[in-house]
Amino acid sequence: MKIAFCYFSATGNTRRVAGEIASRLSALGAEVELKDLTTSQARQTKPDMTQYQAAVFGSPIHSMRAPRLVREWLEGLQGEGRPCATFFTYGGFQVAPTHFDTRRILQERGFKVVATAEFLGAHTFNLGGWQAMAGRPDDGDLAIARAYAEKIYERFAAGDTAIAESLDPSAYTNEQLDQFEGFRFKVLTTLPTRQGQECQMCLLCEDDCPSGAMDAEKGEADPAKCICCLRCVQNCPDEVLVINDLREAFKNKMNMDKETAETLAKKKSRIYL
Ligand SMILES: Cc1cc2nc3c(=O)[nH]c(=O)nc-3n(C[C@H](O)[C@H](O)[C@H](O)COP(=O)(O)O)c2cc1C
Ligand code: SF4
Ligand code: SF4
Repeated sequence: MKIAFCYFSATGNTRRVAGEIASRLSALGAEVELKDLTTSQARQTKPDMTQYQAAVFGSPIHSMRAPRLVREWLEGLQGEGRPCATFFTYGGFQVAPTHFDTRRILQERGFKVVATAEFLGAHTFNLGGWQAMAGRPDDGDLAIARAYAEKIYERFAAGDTAIAESLDPSAYTNEQLDQFEGFRFKVLTTLPTRQGQECQMCLLCEDDCPSGAMDAEKGEADPAKCICCLRCVQNCPDEVLVINDLREAFKNKMNMDKETAETLAKKKSRIYL
């Protein structure tokens, strides 16, 4: 069984989970072709699904949905009636709409979404003082990723294209989700910047920016293009790229969502079949 395994991962959580699922699928006998969609160059090409028996799609959750760049890439695929499975990594807040929104796109493109899963991952905003899910995905999350690989392999091998239904419907319309997407700019009031500091000019921040937003020379992100993924902040070898302090915003989010350190710690990665 040949599987197209496509994932986006700005800061590495989704890549870790993808690696675990893909290795298990290979151990079960699948021929897995990995495609990392994170750079704009990688997203120039799309798999020809007539060459595969199934597909797996993974991404982080950005404001309750897959990142816009991923959604746009998925919208250009032709599913050819193939079964597929999705998975998402997230920092502990409001995951449900993502499953529905991505499933809607994939079904419209001719895929049968037979399973989905969510995995906890250190929240990207921890890079600015947010404090959610540090150390995740951990061994427990990765064990669930391996179990997920076994379930989807079983379903792909059996030709079982029953659609994954065991999810509550999304409480939000697409219009509301579009609005929520803008909230990140209320949290990230300073997009990644060098603040005029000198650096070695390795150009990594510019070359690896998923949206082409970073100008290494200026040391500033273009607000019209930046998706706030913080890949540049995490990967800068000189550690000179900074954002605003997010500690207060984190406290406000915890109060707004009625979460505590204890309720967050109890959250678990989950599979939906
Ligand atoms: C712009 C942005 C928005 C995010 N929105 C959410 C969210 O709505 N809910 C959540 O739990 N985590 C959210 N996160 C956290 C990421 O989903 C989480 O850290 C993810 O594991 C990152 O994956 P990656 O390391 O593969 O990029 C957000 C992160 C970013 C950068
Ligand atoms: S990644 Fe860091 S060191 Fe490299 S060009 Fe960008 S800011 Fe400078
Ligand atoms: S400039 Fe924006 S989109 Fe580009 S890597 Fe940095 S945070 Fe991500």
